[in-house]
Amino acid sequence: MTESSGKVLYVIVCGAFAAPGVGRLVTGAQDLGWVVQVVATPPALDFIDVPALEELTGRPVRSRYRKPSEPKPPRADAMVVAPATYNTVNKFARGIADTYALGVLAEAPGLGIPVVVLPFVNVALAARLPYREAVAGLRADGVRVLPPAADDDPDPWSRALSELGAPGRQDRGDHRV
Ligand SMILES: Cc1cc2nc3c(=O)[nH]c(=O)nc-3n(C[C@H](O)[C@H](O)[C@H](O)COP(=O)(O)O)c2cc1C
Repeated sequence: MTESSGKVLYVIVCGAFAAPGVGRLVTGAQDLGWVVQVVATPPALDFIDVPALEELTGRPVRSRYRKPSEPKPPRADAMVVAPATYNTVNKFARGIADTYALGVLAEAPGLGIPVVVLPFVNVALAARLPYREAVAGLRADGVRVLPPAADDDPDPWSRALSELGAPGRQDRGDHRV
């Protein structure tokens, strides 16, 4: 295992069938040297094992905005959205920020924070014009949107980890909401 760099990766989990396996993405990122903060959409909470992910990361899974009296979360040096749903990809591209996950994503491109998106959308959804436009728009904004994961891929997370890479020198702004 690589020693932790102190660089923080937000792993943003959506409500997709693959979400229960996101622990493998978390440990893979930790092995690369990232400190991982899991952010879940509200639907994702029904798919993931929150206590297990909190044990793995040593941090609370965040799914809502903090109360003003609560401490600020760690700043992100990079973000990975995996599994990314049709819903969240489309909303991210259109600037909708009605979940905490979308709120942190909304600011990332403007702050120069690298974002990798690994969609889990079926062929029918991936063929839709709104989705194709969303992917094109996000890419034009500098977001690295990968081709959708195949249903039978035994290790979909490795593509996201390869795209992300180990922590490097990155600028980061203060987006801690
Ligand atoms: C068992 C189950 C599996 C699902 N898998 C997916 C999926 O792989 N991809 C997807 O885009 N939506 C999937 N959905 C639908 C999403 O959960 C739904 O669109 C939800 O509103 C997404 O919200 P979020 O983007 O905020 O996580 C699934 C729903 C259920 C009940």
